[in-house]
Amino acid sequence: MDLLTINQLELEGKRVLLRADFNVPFFRIDRIPTEADISDDFRIRSAVPTIKLIIERGGIPIILAHLGRPKGKELSLSLVPVAGRLSRLLGQNVIFAEDCIGVRVKELCAELKKGDVVLLENIRFHEGEENNNTGFAKELASLGDVYINEAFGDVHRAHASIVGLPALLPHAAGPLMIREIEALSRLKDNPARPLVAVMGGAKISTKIDFLEKFLPWVDSLLLGGALASTLVKAQGYNIGKSFAEESMLERVNTFDFKSPKVHMPSDVIVAKEASPIAKTEVRKINEIRDDESIFDIGPETRKIFTKIIGESRTVFWNGPMGMHEIPSFAKGTETVAEAVALSEAFSVVGGGDTTVIIERLYLDHYIEFISTGGGAMLEFLCGQKLPGLLALAKK
Ligand code: ADP
Ligand code: 3PG
Ligand code: MG
Repeated sequence: MDLLTINQLELEGKRVLLRADFNVPFFRIDRIPTEADISDDFRIRSAVPTIKLIIERGGIPIILAHLGRPKGKELSLSLVPVAGRLSRLLGQNVIFAEDCIGVRVKELCAELKKGDVVLLENIRFHEGEENNNTGFAKELASLGDVYINEAFGDVHRAHASIVGLPALLPHAAGPLMIREIEALSRLKDNPARPLVAVMGGAKISTKIDFLEKFLPWVDSLLLGGALASTLVKAQGYNIGKSFAEESMLERVNTFDFKSPKVHMPSDVIVAKEASPIAKTEVRKINEIRDDESIFDIGPETRKIFTKIIGESRTVFWNGPMGMHEIPSFAKGTETVAEAVALSEAFSVVGGGDTTVIIERLYLDHYIEFISTGGGAMLEFLCGQKLPGLLALAKK
């Protein structure tokens, strides 16, 4: 798809509505979060060069972003902490607007000078965003002169700030968006083979459609994490007290478990509770006891996965192999991270938790591409038409 790029837009003296994906994770706390509670700022860091570029080219960035899935205005989902972190990363003050529409923000945007940067409050505080309400999109559009989309993670959402705005203003895809599309297209369209996909994480319900669509495309599909526990249960094994999505047991039956491409864990790490001090045991997949839960893949599985990843020429990884937040359940995930980093393959990694792990292990320089997208990346790789990209295409 041919997208309009930032080089095709005149930015000098323009107010630039920049849609960014600042939907970042926070540490779990029971008070309103602050900047220090942001647990990973990869998405914020990724937008910084574009913001600087806009300023260099004489534009005034007015940034639109969402956080979480609020129902109306929820202070715990305010973008104030993000404004703080963005100021620090940019090395200049970011003006925070307490709303994204209305008289006051309009006045604020009208008075901006060159060199200013503005972040508007969470656009999902207004239901017009998710409904792609035309009136809401028009109000947003009235704040700026041109529109740039850098929120690759949101292009699967037909929301006002993703599809409504580019219909109203001169628009372009930002450089980060273009890099995402180039790297993921290389993976999708012309991967050097063998191509290995490693998929893990919490919920099979969010990933089963992708697993089924990936199967014809990949040469090997390595499965771990809690999503594999549900699949193991669906195959008739006892998984004790492991986390599984009971409601998915029937749905996953259409998945081709018998395909020689599919590699499920043959052994796992179990414990009686999800605690850093719980005693851990290695169990074969058919030997799990009633009072045990699966928290990681086992040593034999680690060995098999490492070997398959090592022989790949392209590798894609999304989702941890276990409850990696607890060190005694992190070995499977860390082994996969190291295998992906050490392999000679063209490697692409994506997903919130997966990105954090790569950075925690200082392996980011060994990975060819780390996507800022989660669901959007998976949909892109499946070849789905993404509304946010269609909205940026040359007509
Ligand atoms: P990503 O953000 O990389 O796409 P997910 O959000 O799908 O990954 O899943 C990450 C979560 O899955 C982590 O919080 C991790 O603790 C959890 N998880 C993975 N494996 C297990 C398991 N065996 N038991 C419980 N939780 C698990
Ligand atoms: C993401 O985190 O994947 C994107 O920011 C999209 O968020 P959403 O799933 O709430 O639309
Ligand atoms: Mg996650």
